[in-house]
Amino acid sequence: MRLCLLPQSLARRTILFLLVGFAFIQMLGLLVHTVNQIKLERLVDEQEFATRAAIIYRHIALAQPGDRAMVAAKEPVPKDDTVSLTLNPPLEGTVRMPLPMAEAVRAGIFSYGIPPNLRPRGIVLRVALHPLRLIVSFGLPDGLLFPLPMPGGPTPDGAPPDMMWPPPDQLLPPLMWLTVTTELHPPAPWRSPGFATAFIVMMLLGGVVITLAVRQLLVPVKTLAAAAELFGRDVVNAKPLPEVGPSEIVTAARAFNTMAARIRRFVEDRTFLLTAIGHDLRTPITRLKLRAEYMEDDEQRAKMLADLDEMEAMVSATLAFGKDITTTEPLARLDLASLLRTIVDETADMEPERAAATDYQGPQHLPINARPLALKRALSNLITNAVKYGDAARVTLHAPAKGVVRIDIDDEGPGIPPEEMERVFEPFRRLETSRNRETGGSGLGLSIARNIVRAHGGDIVLTNQEKGLRVTVTLPV
Ligand SMILES: Nc1ncnc2c1ncn2[C@@H]1O[C@H](COP(=O)(O)OP(=O)(O)OP(=O)(O)O)[C@@H](O)[C@H]1O
Ligand SMILES: [Mg+2]
Repeated sequence: MRLCLLPQSLARRTILFLLVGFAFIQMLGLLVHTVNQIKLERLVDEQEFATRAAIIYRHIALAQPGDRAMVAAKEPVPKDDTVSLTLNPPLEGTVRMPLPMAEAVRAGIFSYGIPPNLRPRGIVLRVALHPLRLIVSFGLPDGLLFPLPMPGGPTPDGAPPDMMWPPPDQLLPPLMWLTVTTELHPPAPWRSPGFATAFIVMMLLGGVVITLAVRQLLVPVKTLAAAAELFGRDVVNAKPLPEVGPSEIVTAARAFNTMAARIRRFVEDRTFLLTAIGHDLRTPITRLKLRAEYMEDDEQRAKMLADLDEMEAMVSATLAFGKDITTTEPLARLDLASLLRTIVDETADMEPERAAATDYQGPQHLPINARPLALKRALSNLITNAVKYGDAARVTLHAPAKGVVRIDIDDEGPGIPPEEMERVFEPFRRLETSRNRETGGSGLGLSIARNIVRAHGGDIVLTNQEKGLRVTVTLPV
């Protein structure tokens, strides 16, 4: 068996496809939006860091040179920041800060406004990668003469400091560099609560709109399916589909109606042919009967008359069959329990020697919608069969379940061989045993009964029991 994860109904499948597509587009849209937002947040982070660094610088620059290491160590900073005092700006493992970032940081430093007497001797802007870390080093204002002799030669990438001011013309203690760093975290847009909330809200709204739209679109498909089902049950009486709605639906409805009309005409033609032949055969049969009366051989005459009687019975049954197919009896509210009791009583009256084995069990009343005459004909056929071929008819009416009511007709006969189960429903089909018994049926009973029950939206199923046959009739309540 092929494993199919797709939902069975067309509506659910369409909704699923649209929702998956919608979710994908949502993700893409939100991602673009969030990336832009993250860029902005980064810029703000960079500037804030720069201002923080400038504040720390001012604080340390104001302190006595001797106290600066202690002040730097005590400086309160956020957990991702570090502050250190060194003889040189730390360059190892770092690269020059990219221009747009450097501009943002510089703007942050100068927006703070450092007094002229505290201006740094130089500012070095670097970044360390993995993890991304911004590094700002300030040359403290009171230090050794410029240019600065760098221990260990020039910087690894030969980069000069970003800014230098003219050195003061006096000898000073060695120039110290204050370095402030901060770590920037990589962006994770889908982790932001805004992302999830926006996604969920949009998916819910989108889901509602998609579901409503798909349901609305599929209404005509459901109507078409229901019409086809109804037509299958009752070819003659099914109403045509209304040809309204979108153009494709009108085309489909029109095609369906044309097809239904053709099938109906075909069935009617066939039934007409059947009844016409049946009807026309009556006269020659009557004529033959008259002629048979003049036969001299008594035995042959009796046999011929018996054959002609059988032919006449078959012709009448054929006419009745034709009438059943074209029945236009309207639906009415009827009590199925009383109907069954009546049929059981009538059958028992007709077959007094089996009356003891003919009974009804079930509720007193059970109203359903049905065509009274047709349904009585169908159930009588089945109950008579049980008595005729099974010597008993035990009828049980079960309480309705899931909108369906069930009738079991059990007998005590030989049952029906499994290979004949379907064929006994064919018109004129009789089993050898019944021929031998001379029960005199025409073989149309089951065929008519199933036609009628199916036209009601139900069905007839045969099953062999340990002793006898069970005929199960289901009907919608
Ligand atoms: N309860 C049953 N037990 C055994 N055989 C059955 C039973 N009901 C029907 N059959 C077999 O199925 C055949 C077809 O039944 P169906 O009712 O269609 O025709 P019929 O009873 O022979 O004639 P009709 O009902 O037209 O008078 C019967 O001839 C009989 O052989
Ligand atoms: Mg019968």
